This record gives sequence, C-alpha cells and structure tokens, in this order.
Amino acid sequence: MEQELSLEYLRVVERAAIACARTMGQGDRHKSDQVAVEAMREEMDTVGMDGTVVIGEGERDRAPMLYIGEKVGLASHDRHHQYPAVDIAVDPLEGTNLCATGEPNAITVLAASEHGGLLHAPDLYMEKIIVGPLCKGAVDLEAPPERNLKAIAKRLERKVGDLVVTVLDRPRHEKLIADIRKAGARIRLISDGDLSAGISAAVSDMGVHAVMGTGGAPEGVLTAAALKCLNGQILARLVVSTKEHRERTARMGITDPRRIYDTADLAPGKKIIFASTGVTPGGLLRGVRFFGGGTRTQSVIMTYEDRQIRFIDSVHIEKGAKDVRIRFY
Ligand code: FBP
Repeated sequence: MEQELSLEYLRVVERAAIACARTMGQGDRHKSDQVAVEAMREEMDTVGMDGTVVIGEGERDRAPMLYIGEKVGLASHDRHHQYPAVDIAVDPLEGTNLCATGEPNAITVLAASEHGGLLHAPDLYMEKIIVGPLCKGAVDLEAPPERNLKAIAKRLERKVGDLVVTVLDRPRHEKLIADIRKAGARIRLISDGDLSAGISAAVSDMGVHAVMGTGGAPEGVLTAAALKCLNGQILARLVVSTKEHRERTARMGITDPRRIYDTADLAPGKKIIFASTGVTPGGLLRGVRFFGGGTRTQSVIMTYEDRQIRFIDSVHIEKGAKDVRIRFY
C-alpha cells in the first residue's frame, strides 16, 4: 500500500498547496482554507483507494467536505474495482493565518494508514511534548519543563542553554514560557503551526530541540504519523475540561480522557504514509513558487514500513506553456 499510494498522495498535497498559495497574503484565512479543502477533496477522488476520513474538517453537519466519516477515493464512485481500504487524516492547510498573512511554515498535510492506524481524536486541545530520535524516552509530559530540558540536554550532550524550544505564542503558555526561560533554554515563539514545528524537532539541523505546550489534537495525531516515520516522539493528553468535551470524547470511543498518549498510541498503524507540501516558505519546506508557465513545489513523503523519507521538488508545467526553462538547485 505504501509504495503505490505515496506518489498519489503527493499529487493531493501538491494540488492543495498550489491552490491555496494563490491566496497567500490576501488576509482571508477562511478563503485560504476553503480553497485548500476543495482542491484536496477533488484530487483525492482520483486516488485508487477506498478511503475514510478519520481526521478532517470536523463533523458532517459543520463541514461540507472532508468531514469525519466521509468516503474518499475512487472506490466512492467506482464499485467495479477492489481498492485498498485506508483511513485518512488531513489538515488541508495547516496554518491558515500563516497563509493569509504570508508568514512562513504554512503546509498542506495528509496522513494515511490501514484501518484503525490513526487515533480518532476529537477537535479539542491537546497538551504536547515533542522531541527527536535522540531524546526518545527521555521526557515526561507531567514533569516540570526544567526536568525535561535537563533530560533533553543530557541526551544531546549539550547545556540547557544551548537548547531551543518552540512554543505557540498564546496567553495560555505564559507560565510554560516563564518556566523554560527560568531553566535557561532559548525559545522560538511561533504564531501558528505546531505541526510543522513538531516535524522540525525530529529533523537534524533545524535548530529546534523540542516543542512544548498545548495545540490542536488533530495536529497532534498528524504529528505522530510523521514522527513515527522519523523515529521521534510525541507525548500528548487531551484537554477535556467541560461536560461537552467529555461527551464528544466519549462519542469518539475514548474512555479515559486523562490518558497520556505516546506516538504509537496516536498513530498505531503498521503502514503509515505522511505527505506534506510547503505553501509559504518555511524551514522544512520551500513554499509554492509561481513562474511564467508553471509552478514549483517542495514536499516530503514519509513511509513507515519501508522507512523512506523523500524530499520531492516538483515542477508543474502549465498545459501549452512554451520555452519553460527549469533551473536545478
Ligand atoms: P489552523 O491551520 O487551523 O489555523 O491551525 C493552526 C494552529 O496554530 C495549529 O498549528 C495549532 O495546533 C492550533 O492552531 C492552535 O490553536 P489556537 O490557535 O486555538 O491556539
């Protein structure tokens, strides 16, 4: 499944990125998101799969497309062929504000697995701590930041003062930020996008050693899919603070809302594919570039079973374009 479908998913994330990149800097995050959703949904229906959306744009009554439970792929309108059954998790545009303002690190994201391979997480907040392969097993979601930072520094054979922690810049993180500063580590505050930050923590030379704080739960599951392929770690716990949260969590089959999830609990699949394309220029992926006669994109495709991480640079030449010269870099 991984080999056949990964290039098909590449088309899906590329198409969504090209579509929403046209709206970059227009100041309309809903429009950017809508354009990405529509492009992703349309392209997905050309993929040879019997897909079910497990993480998407929300419940059916709130989302016209890519809602949880929606059937996607060729199987939804071609019953004559047998297609592989896959669970699909999407974030058609991760960082809607980033795209709307032209800030770095907006990406399009899709993850897939065999049935049951990705946690059905409600669209709530999730406390998270994310580290790369060398720090796997060294951190504890319930430990104070100082203790986690010391453990990370020890594994990375450096001082706490040499570490960089990415944190979403939100009032709810006031204490966390103060604690990290007190421990002596450096901080990269981001306005949005803890999913691409989480992936960066598991990639060498990105200058990020951990991500800490509370962000979206769907982003947490998608981060886990990527980290499983990259051999990193995410520890996470849903923020369930009201009766309505408890009911939503229970409806998704989660019996212990205080459970701490490890990477493999969020993404238990044996066959996982993670695909993402840069929309705005970022540390991990370059953004979409339009030139006379075509478009250039950069993507990453990761597969868990055969441990392949592919960075893919694509040139999409417009039909009928003449004299297009491709530059190597
Ligand atoms: P969107 O792409 O849906 O705008 O989400 C961006 C994001 O920053 C995520 O990366 C993060 O997990 C979440 O929002 C944090 O939520 P909030 O903005 O409510 O703090």
